[in-house]
Amino acid sequence: MMIAKVVLEEALSMGMIVRYPKFDFSDFKFYWSHNMAFSQDRNATAIIPSPVEPWLIKLLREAMPKLPQKYAWLKADAEKFIAQESQHFRQHRTFNKLMVDAGFPKLAELEAGLAADLERFRKTKSLKWCLAYADGFESLGAVAGSLWFEKSEEMVGGLDNAAIRLWKWHMAEEFEHREVCYQFFKAIYCQGFWNRIFNGYFYRLGGLIFAMWHLRGFSSKAVKYMREVEMERMSPAEKEQLRKDTKAFNKFNRRAFVAPLLANFLPWYDPAKKPEPKGLYEYLRHFEKGGDWAAGGSQQAAGA
Ligand SMILES: [Fe+2]
Ligand SMILES: [Fe+2]
Repeated sequence: MMIAKVVLEEALSMGMIVRYPKFDFSDFKFYWSHNMAFSQDRNATAIIPSPVEPWLIKLLREAMPKLPQKYAWLKADAEKFIAQESQHFRQHRTFNKLMVDAGFPKLAELEAGLAADLERFRKTKSLKWCLAYADGFESLGAVAGSLWFEKSEEMVGGLDNAAIRLWKWHMAEEFEHREVCYQFFKAIYCQGFWNRIFNGYFYRLGGLIFAMWHLRGFSSKAVKYMREVEMERMSPAEKEQLRKDTKAFNKFNRRAFVAPLLANFLPWYDPAKKPEPKGLYEYLRHFEKGGDWAAGGSQQAAGA
């Protein structure tokens, strides 16, 4: 009986790996891609995981005892999810400090504002609401996984530095654990016909739309702030380049992120069915035990 249970749990498990990367930020540059607007946009987005991911960890710990018996297998995946997110937010905090030190102190204020909002949600909203928000956030990461591995050539093709490694590692693991929050929401709130329809589609969609609107509010403010600071100190030629890059980035973003994101709005959306981005797991091997970009491994500097 016990063996059958273990076999069943292994079959259902998402088979995730916890990795401990090491990044050499000694070559940190605020503009680390071919396109200044792309670097600004990702740098702005970087203020999101550092408060959101510790919040997700607390949320899953709170939700774990509420999992129905038949979803007990999800607990082992949730522990791996927690371990992965713990690494993500720690590495992003290091990166975010470098951005603040590069002349953008207000980024820390925006990050603190997001953390305060999340704390308020935990105190005033239901677990169901918070899990729908969490699933909305997580479903964005899976889309970003395919952006980084299949569509980012014009933004970072031929480049290798710590910022690119950080984003590719993080978004690859987001892709890897894309199902965890979705499965939690489904297990606790989508049992039975009507719950499957109302919570499984409409409520989940509400969480996604709110999370997008809420988080985009913070990253847009961060981009606006960065551009204001930069416009003060850039040469006319650099300003012209930033304008051109912004135009190219907006086009790229619509094609590589916004269009694929629409699939998350469909009633039959299932993160498990998202096709695996090419080269994603090969890239992750660098961060696994003994890998050249793993903590304790034979560290190889970016660009070496
Ligand atoms: Fe993460
Ligand atoms: Fe995540």
